[in-house]
Amino acid sequence: MSYPDIRPRRLRRTPALRRLVEETRVSPAELVLPLFLKEGLTEPRPISSLPGVVQHSRESLRKAAHEAVSAGVGGLMLFGVPESGNKDETGSAGLDPEGILNVGIRDLIAEVGDDTVVMSDLCLDEFTSHGHCGVLAKDGSVDNDATLEIYAEMAVAQAAAGAHMVGPSGMMDGQIGVIRKALDKAGYSDTSVLAYSAKYAGAFYGPFREAVESTLEGDRRQYQQDPPNLREALREVDLDVAEGADIVMVKPALAYLDVIAAIRDRVTVPVAAYQVSGEYAMVEAAAANGWIDRDRVIIESLTSIKRAGAQITLTYWATEVAQKLR
Ligand code: PBG
Repeated sequence: MSYPDIRPRRLRRTPALRRLVEETRVSPAELVLPLFLKEGLTEPRPISSLPGVVQHSRESLRKAAHEAVSAGVGGLMLFGVPESGNKDETGSAGLDPEGILNVGIRDLIAEVGDDTVVMSDLCLDEFTSHGHCGVLAKDGSVDNDATLEIYAEMAVAQAAAGAHMVGPSGMMDGQIGVIRKALDKAGYSDTSVLAYSAKYAGAFYGPFREAVESTLEGDRRQYQQDPPNLREALREVDLDVAEGADIVMVKPALAYLDVIAAIRDRVTVPVAAYQVSGEYAMVEAAAANGWIDRDRVIIESLTSIKRAGAQITLTYWATEVAQKLR
């Protein structure tokens, strides 16, 4: 019998030793809280498939923002949900300064100012009657270039409302370049762009569709990426960086850790990941059944996303986790 000369277990023996050698530690400043603002609400309304997440009223949005900032959360990502009567073929409520998203951006800036980073979703799906991320061509497909013109205007409207950072999530070709140029031309060269570069057309977005009352029929496979593809994600990221993306993002997160890691190796801009609604809902559902230890799974998943290479993570647990870490 020979005994091992080298014993990795030595460094795992006590909590103090483990803490000393911990390679990845999640902190509040890297967490971004997605928020939903629903037009016309006077009270927040629960989202059944996202237990603990709500559609906010204007008042409750400000409270949630304040709470997140007090907990040290690094950013807020706002989604606007218009009343159904305010959706149309081209998503015009997204451009309207009085549209719910732009109103919400102004509210957030009034509440938290520069104490955190206020980000806004730059996409048409919440505003179109058909639920697609762009406008439709005659044959029913999403018209890339016609959509770009609208995104350019939408970006300027969001910057004018005060957004520090816009988050184009529609996966149109050329969207980052068009948005960057439009912002610069309108005098918003300081407004930054968080590019949803590798956004996969997977099945993890189900609860989000409830949260934004999506009217989508069919799917987004003609513009979002096919889940089996990694090299294609690198191509998208290269294009977005060349077009001026300040941060690139992978979405969803946990099922795409290899994509996060590959992108992290490739670019020098910060890499973000979006722990999406389906990821959240799975954990909450299993925890509600007593099948997993909720708090440990949450921190383990966030730690893994960071270990893979994401420096920033969007998560519906941002405030709660930030409070616990403090
Ligand atoms: C589209 C958008 C989606 C999400 C964020 N932005 C949905 C989609 O692409 O269908 C999903 C976020 C989540 O599931 O938590 N604007």
